[in-house]
Amino acid sequence: MKNNSIKNIILTLLRSISSEKEIRKYIEKFSNVDHRYIIIKVGGAIIQNDLDNLVSSLSFLNQVGLKPIVIHGAGPRLSSSLKEKGINFDFLDGQRITSSEVLDEALTIFGEENTKLVEALQDRDVAAVSVTNNIFECTIKNPKLGYVGEVHSTNIKAIEKILDNQNIPIIASVGQTVDGQLLNLNADSAAISIAKEIEAYKIIFLSEVGGIYDQQNNLISTIDLKEQFDDLMGMKWLHSGMKLKLEEIKKLLDILPSSTSVSITKPHHLPRELFTDAGSGTLIKKGHLVDQFESIDQAKGENIALIIETAFNGKLDKTYFNNDVKKTFYISDCNRAAIIVSHENEIPYMDKFAVVDSARGEGLGSAIWNKMKQDHDQLFWRSRSTNPINKFYLSVCDGFQKYDGWNIYWIGVSNLKQLTLCIESAYNYKQTINYE
Ligand code: ARG
Repeated sequence: MKNNSIKNIILTLLRSISSEKEIRKYIEKFSNVDHRYIIIKVGGAIIQNDLDNLVSSLSFLNQVGLKPIVIHGAGPRLSSSLKEKGINFDFLDGQRITSSEVLDEALTIFGEENTKLVEALQDRDVAAVSVTNNIFECTIKNPKLGYVGEVHSTNIKAIEKILDNQNIPIIASVGQTVDGQLLNLNADSAAISIAKEIEAYKIIFLSEVGGIYDQQNNLISTIDLKEQFDDLMGMKWLHSGMKLKLEEIKKLLDILPSSTSVSITKPHHLPRELFTDAGSGTLIKKGHLVDQFESIDQAKGENIALIIETAFNGKLDKTYFNNDVKKTFYISDCNRAAIIVSHENEIPYMDKFAVVDSARGEGLGSAIWNKMKQDHDQLFWRSRSTNPINKFYLSVCDGFQKYDGWNIYWIGVSNLKQLTLCIESAYNYKQTINYE
């Protein structure tokens, strides 16, 4: 298939699930991040089983002007080839024990898989360059593991040179010691070591399962490490390999700017994950701190007003903070999201929920929502029936009622009389944002 038609097919698909504005926001964000790169780690099984989708997605990224750094493994093919040849191998703590026989085979397979991917990309006119050594300087990790490397430094200059020449580097996870001994590397660690050194903006792990799943086997869409890491590590249903990966990701995000995020997805869903707010996969963020206030001073009030006005593109009533209705305020430490809950009625009313446009898709909305939710077992709120946020509200409310252009939602209200009151007052609230 010609590149242009891939681009058009994927763009049409993206437009059917999100807006042009949203897609453009991400294309601009990801193709112009001031020398901060996107790293894509490709699980070995994908080159073997899902090459077509991988190549289409990478070729789409290339078409819209993104130059990612691609790192791949070759694990499953290596295992089957070792079996075929009758070479014994074993794992220790999830790492392959690498004898010199295993190493030889690993290098061959890495080379073959690398060539397969590079050629498939070149066939689609994507300028991809094969990189199979001289990137990861290592020492031997643990003598019990044999020829397995631990990365000490990465040759970022070589990678940058490839990118500067408008090529996409396709890097095999092979390391070497200062004496030139080649070593087998875990592809996740290889990707992470590059991400650290170049302060990557986005790191993507492509796998066949395409995300992290909860106990009911539902895909977890967003993980906020500040809020959820400890809980997740304590969960029995999360298997040890995933815990290890989460730990590595946390270590990485802890040292990178908070705008950096990690996504786990599958090749076919990569464009959707990258270029829509909702994504398709699991997004992992360092997380956000959200503060709660029972009252606010003028400066905080101005902060919140600015967040609300930016998010809603309107002007907040000048008298909004002046009346003496008791309110609870939630503000994110980055000053890009706010919630105001008013206690005018017996049941608290969520009067404002604002996330500025540029912060959408970062998990900030769900972080501030979760924090507010912890304090409120009962709540009602309203939103215009045309507001795209209704999808989210539907997923978190206990019930809702449509009325005259409004959707009115509630949580934890089962008494009919109270509910009627909530619906009536939600409907009658005076508008406090003015749109020109
Ligand atoms: N497109 C955005 C990004 O790549 C948001 C992705 C949201 N993904 C998710 N699984 N919740 O950063």
